[in-house]
Amino acid sequence: MAVKSKHVRRGLWNHLMRTGVEMGLASIIYEVGVASKYVNHAMRTGDLGLAGTSNLYGEEQLALDVLADEIIKDRLDHTGRVSKIVSEEQSEIIIFERSGRRRQYAVCYDPLDGSSLVDVNLAVGTIVSIYPGDDPLQPGKNQVGAMFVVYGPRTTLVYSTGNGVFEFTLNSLGEYTLTRENIFMKEQGNLYSPGGLRSEYLPEHERYVASLEADGYKLRYSGGFVPDINQILLKGSGVFMYPATRKSPCGKLRLPFELNPMAYLVEQAGGGASTGTERILDVVPGDLDQRSPVYIGCRREVALAERILNGGE
Ligand code: AHG
Ligand code: MN
Ligand code: MN
Repeated sequence: MAVKSKHVRRGLWNHLMRTGVEMGLASIIYEVGVASKYVNHAMRTGDLGLAGTSNLYGEEQLALDVLADEIIKDRLDHTGRVSKIVSEEQSEIIIFERSGRRRQYAVCYDPLDGSSLVDVNLAVGTIVSIYPGDDPLQPGKNQVGAMFVVYGPRTTLVYSTGNGVFEFTLNSLGEYTLTRENIFMKEQGNLYSPGGLRSEYLPEHERYVASLEADGYKLRYSGGFVPDINQILLKGSGVFMYPATRKSPCGKLRLPFELNPMAYLVEQAGGGASTGTERILDVVPGDLDQRSPVYIGCRREVALAERILNGGE
């Protein structure tokens, strides 16, 4: 439900304090919010150059991935509360040595998901997953918080620490103000967001997609995981999938910094997230870039996927 009257609109820090989020966890969420403002600025003001400099832009875009990673890493270290991080842009786990307050959280993040979409002006995002302690490769059910930022027509931040899912929108003063609270999904919807190449679908996945289409589901797919999930979550309707295919039996999306945080948020909003055979949040990650097939969204659609994929229908 969108928050209507202005006086109840509150900044992100006030909300984190008012809802009793532990100070260290709150500072991580808040500092990712700060970092996202710099990423947002870099993305919208970067000199795209004229036609023919796409390679250059590609390097800039690559720079944008690396810049986003550097900014977020710096802000996480600055909190003094993060022990280790896993980033899509880093090839190994990074340990923050600087002494200081007890470093009681481990963080996995994708600094800029879908960055190849920036140069065609489509929405992209940042995804963050937060664990207690100093092991960033825990099963997703151990998360104590998760969030994402969508850099789209508006810049919005969605987070949960287990007591509801909240959306904040960046205003012209550079403040994140509450715009949706206690986001909750329907039991069943009417959108489907099908990743992967149709020609590589496995038969049971083909059957699942055909059954959704026969039921009149509307296709919504931008190629950006964050805006695609944001649409399913905020409309509370339907399912996103990136399946196992003939060429990629583990799908494409990575567990630690893409699937686990989104699965946590969608489950907090009353939805579900499955590999097709088990709950995403139960999977024990083997390594940094472990991939998994994913069906995530309304409970009814996720349950149907599990039934069809396991020969139940
Ligand atoms: P990233 O840019 O971090 O590598 O992630 C891109 C992912 C995700 O955003 C999206 O769901 C998926 O790639 C789209 O893949 P296809 O281009 O194969 O549809
Ligand atoms: Mn990604
Ligand atoms: Mn990325």
